[in-house]
Amino acid sequence: MARRAYDLILYGATGFVGRQTVAYIAARAGAGEKALRWAIAGRNRDKLEQVRRAAGAAAAAADIVVAGADEPRALNALARSTSVVLSTAGPFDLYGSQLVAACVSQRSHYVDITGETPWVSRLVKQHHARAAADGTRIIPCCGFDSVPSDLGAWLLVQAMHKRHAAECVAVKASFSIRGGLNGGTLASALNMLGSGQGKAMADVFLLNPQGERVRDPTLHADPLLPHFDTDFKAWLGPFVMGPVNTRVVRRSAALLSYPEAFHYQEYLRVGTGPVAAIAAASLSAGMFASSQAMRFGLLRSLAARVAPKPGEGPSVSRMDGGAFHCELLGRSGNGHVLRGRISDHGDPGNRGTTKMVCEAALALLFGGRRLPPGGGVLTPASGLGQVLVDRLRAAGMVLEVDP
Ligand SMILES: NC(=O)c1ccc[n+]([C@@H]2O[C@H](COP(=O)([O-])OP(=O)(O)OC[C@H]3O[C@@H](n4cnc5c(N)ncnc54)[C@H](OP(=O)(O)O)[C@@H]3O)[C@@H](O)[C@H]2O)c1
Repeated sequence: MARRAYDLILYGATGFVGRQTVAYIAARAGAGEKALRWAIAGRNRDKLEQVRRAAGAAAAAADIVVAGADEPRALNALARSTSVVLSTAGPFDLYGSQLVAACVSQRSHYVDITGETPWVSRLVKQHHARAAADGTRIIPCCGFDSVPSDLGAWLLVQAMHKRHAAECVAVKASFSIRGGLNGGTLASALNMLGSGQGKAMADVFLLNPQGERVRDPTLHADPLLPHFDTDFKAWLGPFVMGPVNTRVVRRSAALLSYPEAFHYQEYLRVGTGPVAAIAAASLSAGMFASSQAMRFGLLRSLAARVAPKPGEGPSVSRMDGGAFHCELLGRSGNGHVLRGRISDHGDPGNRGTTKMVCEAALALLFGGRRLPPGGGVLTPASGLGQVLVDRLRAAGMVLEVDP
C-alpha cells in the first residue's frame, strides 16, 4: 500500500473527549512519536481551528480535515488519506456508520470509544467479513468501556495458561469508580433507549459471531441483585457498564477461542459492612427503576434537560481528581485461582478513556508484527492484545496479575 498523507486522524476532535485526544496526541507527537503526521477532523473548520489553537504549539503541526458524518465522499477521502482513524464523534449510531464504512472501503484501521453495543453489532454484520478478508482492523469500544474488562479477562486467561497450563473457565471483575458524566455519553444512552435498541442491549450474546454454539444462558445473565462476594470480601451490585463490557469480553472469548466453558461477569464494588449491604440493595433497586423509567419519552426528555449537554462534561479538577480500580479473579476448572487488577488516576470516562483510545491508535500505528494477526470488527484484546497492555503500562496505568 502506498504511504498515506497522515498516520492518524482524530475525528470528532471538537467534542469534549475529542479535545482531550488532541491534547494527548499533541503531547506524544512532540515527545517520542516525533515523526507522527496527523490531522484533526470534524464537521466545522472554525471550531477545529479553535481546538488546534487551544492545544498550543505542540498541535500546530496537525492539519485540519473537514467532513460531516453524513458526507460519504468527504469521509472516503479522509479515510483514504490516513493509516488510522480515531473517532470520538458520538452518538456513534448517529455519526459513526458512514465513517466506519469509509474506513473499511479504504482499508484504514479504526478505533473509537463507543459503548453502543447495538451499533457495534450492526458493524459486525455489515463489515466483519470484508475487513477480515482485507486485514483491516475496526476496533470499537477502546475507551473505559471496554478496555479494562477486555484486557483484564484476557490477561488472566493468558496467565492461567502460562503459569498452570490450565484453562481459565471463569473471570469476575469488581469496579470502583470516581468520575463525572459527559453530555455526549448521556446523549448516546438516550438515543439508544429512544430508538428502540433496548431489546438488543439486553441480549447477553449480542456481539458473539453468528451461528456460534448455544451456551448456558444462566451463567451469562446480567446480575440484577446485590450479593456478598467471599472472594472480594465485599458487597457487590450491578455495574452500569456491565451490559456493555460483558458483551465485548464474550466477543473476545469467541474470536480468541477462550475455553468453551469460559464465562465472565462484572460488578460495582459497594463496600464491606452492613451499610454497604443496604447501599448495594438500593443501588440494584435504583438501577432497575431508572432503566424502567427511561423507557418513557417524558422522563428521557427531562433527563436531557437537567443533565450536561453534548459538548459539556465535568470540570478539570473533577476529571483530575477521578480514578478507577478494577479487581479481577480468574479460576481454572481444576482449582487454580489468579488475581489481577487494573487501575489508574483520573476520571475514567475522560482521562482514562482518552489515554486508552489514543494508546490503542498508537498501538495500531507502531505495533507492527507484535499485533495479533488478522482484521475484522474486533475487540481491544483480539485486535491489539499485548501491544496495548504494554503501551498502557508505559503510560502509567496499572495492569497486573499477581505472581
Ligand atoms: N467509552 C467511554 O468510556 C466513553 C467515555 C466518554 C464518552 N464516550 C462516548 O463518546 C462519544 C462522545 O462523547 P463526548 O462527551 O466527547 O461528546 P460531545 O462533546 O457531544 O462530542 C460529540 C462530537 O461529535 C461531533 N458531531 C456531532 N454531530 C456531527 C456531525 N453531523 N458530523 C460530524 N461530527 C458531528 C461533534 O462536533 P461539533 O463540535 O461540530 O458539534 C463533537 O465533535 C459519545 O458517544 C459518548 O457516549 C465514551
